[in-house]
Amino acid sequence: MFSKQCNISPRADDRSARTNDQATPVTVTLAHLSDPHISCMDNVTGRDLAGKRLLGYLRWKLQRGAEHGKHLLEALKTDLAQTQPDHIAVTGDLTHLSFPAEFTKTRQWLQSLGPPSKVTVIPGNHDTYVKTDWHQTMARWTDYMLSDKPRKDGRNSDGTGALFPILRTRGCVAIIGICTARPSAPHLAVGRVGTRQLQKLATILSETGRNRFYRVVLIHHPPVPGSVSWRKRLTDAPALQSILACYGAELVLHGHAHRTLQHRLKTRSGTLPVSGISSVSALSRKPERRARYHIYRITPVDATWEVRREIRIYASGDNCFIRESEQRFNLN
Ligand SMILES: [Fe+2]
Repeated sequence: MFSKQCNISPRADDRSARTNDQATPVTVTLAHLSDPHISCMDNVTGRDLAGKRLLGYLRWKLQRGAEHGKHLLEALKTDLAQTQPDHIAVTGDLTHLSFPAEFTKTRQWLQSLGPPSKVTVIPGNHDTYVKTDWHQTMARWTDYMLSDKPRKDGRNSDGTGALFPILRTRGCVAIIGICTARPSAPHLAVGRVGTRQLQKLATILSETGRNRFYRVVLIHHPPVPGSVSWRKRLTDAPALQSILACYGAELVLHGHAHRTLQHRLKTRSGTLPVSGISSVSALSRKPERRARYHIYRITPVDATWEVRREIRIYASGDNCFIRESEQRFNLN
């Protein structure tokens, strides 16, 4: 299924050294951001607000709309132009109520961040808020969600279920995306990986691990129970944890909780860091919920990796993102 090898010479002292394809530096910088909740409700009519969307619309107007700022996304774009990560991972909830107009607006935002080859997207529960027509919604981002070697059987075009898990490799890093998004009942924001994805995930983790990639798993819902309330949980988290424990990974990145979270899962080969992040458009005054994004600098060193993580936080006074901290971020 997957035979490409991470054949980078471990030369941590030479950050300008290149891989065989001359495309990605030895040190790969991966930015992680999540949950922008880009809304577009100016022309919403009564007919658009049937069922669960009515509750979501009222909540947005009364409370949540004030929690997210469009100007933060502009500040983010400016900051990313300066930090220049090699790749950007967006872990879901790009839209708020899954309106087709939100998907169109979000595609424009994604294009402002970079081309599909430099930005990987996985959906969140708000991107499947209700059952929608694939071609009017998620299909508008398909190129940001495709594997390096997309399926050739035509099933890429008929929904996220057929698309995931996805695999993209950038230098020594294997970016593995899982979809947990699916419509749920009013008041619920649960997610599920599902048996088919879990089976394919096991194969991808096994093969990329054997080929010595630094495996980064992108998922919207946190895989660690207790990270969010029961109504927002990942319903098959134990099954996912079993796969991760058995086949291993180097890092799990998630959104959904809208706050900074740090956990570790035990695997056969050690411990696996699980990192959750706040919404990148959040105006919250609570420190753990304030808008941030993370930059991972991943360098292969001998048989392992040296990883540093920089946390960039939104500074409302200056309307810009600034460095909050930077530290080593290794496995054990
Ligand atoms: Fe969210």
